[in-house]
Amino acid sequence: LFFLPYLLFSTHFSVDGFIEEEIKRADFPHGFFFGAATSAYQIEGAFLEDGKSPNNWDVFCLTQGSIENGDNGDICDDHYHRYLEDIEIMHSLGVNAYRFSISWSRILPSMQFFLSILAVNFPVSVCHAVIDHLNKRSFLTVFNVGIEPFVTIHHHDFPQELEDRYGSWLSPLMQYAQFPFLQNLCAITCYCREDFVHFAEVCFRSFGDRVKYWMTINEPNLFAEFAYERGIYPPARCSEPFGNCSVGNSDVEPLIAMHNMLLAHGKAAKLYRQQFQAIIWSLNIYGIITPKQGGFIGIVAHTMMYEPLTEFDQEAASRALAFNTAWTLDPLIFGNYPPEMRRYHGSELPQFSSEEAKIIKGSIDFIGVNHYSTLYAKDCMHCSCILGGDRSIRGFVYSTGERDGVPIGEATGMPRFFVVPRGIGEIIDYIQKRYHNKPIFVTENGYASLEQQQAQVQDLLHDVKRIEFHKSYLASLAQAVRNGANVRGYFIWTLMDDFEWVHGYGIRFGLYHVDPQTLNRIPKLSARWYKNFLTNSSLNT
Ligand code: NOJ
Repeated sequence: LFFLPYLLFSTHFSVDGFIEEEIKRADFPHGFFFGAATSAYQIEGAFLEDGKSPNNWDVFCLTQGSIENGDNGDICDDHYHRYLEDIEIMHSLGVNAYRFSISWSRILPSMQFFLSILAVNFPVSVCHAVIDHLNKRSFLTVFNVGIEPFVTIHHHDFPQELEDRYGSWLSPLMQYAQFPFLQNLCAITCYCREDFVHFAEVCFRSFGDRVKYWMTINEPNLFAEFAYERGIYPPARCSEPFGNCSVGNSDVEPLIAMHNMLLAHGKAAKLYRQQFQAIIWSLNIYGIITPKQGGFIGIVAHTMMYEPLTEFDQEAASRALAFNTAWTLDPLIFGNYPPEMRRYHGSELPQFSSEEAKIIKGSIDFIGVNHYSTLYAKDCMHCSCILGGDRSIRGFVYSTGERDGVPIGEATGMPRFFVVPRGIGEIIDYIQKRYHNKPIFVTENGYASLEQQQAQVQDLLHDVKRIEFHKSYLASLAQAVRNGANVRGYFIWTLMDDFEWVHGYGIRFGLYHVDPQTLNRIPKLSARWYKNFLTNSSLNT
């Protein structure tokens, strides 16, 4: 009976009005990665265990009114203690990849100066265990090929200490110690371990023998906007009319924070390439011989698709795309910000020195694409309209999910997330053309449902709309791949219901429901569908 709705939906489905064949795993190339994605703060819990320092979210959640319902990540899904069970779930789903992030304040908590030399304390060994267990199955069963770890180094959470000490991403200190002698001091004493490049290095050195796909920073473009323009993520900085914070400057701070994140990425990527990726055998800074790791490094962009609201808004739509996706990717591919942004921001936009441009240009081996939704873009050059609510407004674009009162796609539980399957094909096309077919991973794609207060568990498990969403987005993605897009993998956001940042536990993306009392993981219909899609493709043929 549980499968009945799935079977009903499994014969045909519609992508924007077209009836198509059921999507199959075999519609994607051999070796394509299919996975699920999570992030440390959103699932781990154990917020102060084993010496972990408080991070920006631990502190932000304490401020009344910052998170819906007063929720926080203190316990979350308790993945920190239940990771073995969660990896079992992944093996049973049949995914061949898992994307997760490393908690900065666990790996490098304050006051443990020599930790980064030792790198063997308990929290680090939990990370080791996760990675090891992802691969273990390949030795145990013939049919299970193991799960490839895709590791995000920084996914929205950083030690609060770095905020208190120098204002986190508003300071270049967050990237790397600025002076060569400080770098040496850092290497010898680990005293400067708080900066991003040092954290990245600890990750490469500790886990890089088994991790071949690294993503430096998750959605720097969204974080810059939410934390420093709208003030809804920590450190909650903004100014009117973009938001009503007590400190901040929404005009320039997002640009500065983004600049520092891009440079931090570039410097971490340079270090990876020099010390870990390419060198066959080398002495690292501690005099230890390091074998070649030979992996790949990339970044993850928040990519909203924009379509023109009317025929007169073509240019507005391309400006909106530039202020969102290209803001992250142009600098890392071409060494500079998008010309569309330069034109509108002028000298407000920071400059990369020629040395810095050299570091960031070409600093990614692949592009991570987080894609959920499509909006209409409307030219807003001559109005003081700030209704759009995302970074595109800085390019004087008003973005909306409606045209003449008709939504662009079905609304979901998340504001501004509409179901527009063609959008994933369109954004891939945009990225592919602009960046000359660089390898792409869809690092996140998922369906948000609102958790109704009185909802029955049976209803929460019966997530037919999530299944429809993934089928239709996958069909659109498969079409893009058939048209020649260099897409190598697809990750569902997310494995299990988790802490959805400012929305707390009220918005759910998971394939698994997590019982709030027992924290038991219960498969939704979508988990059963994904398992079937992944492991039993013959059913689909
Ligand atoms: C992208 C972010 O990377 C992730 O942390 C978040 O939960 C999802 N979007 C859904 O909003």
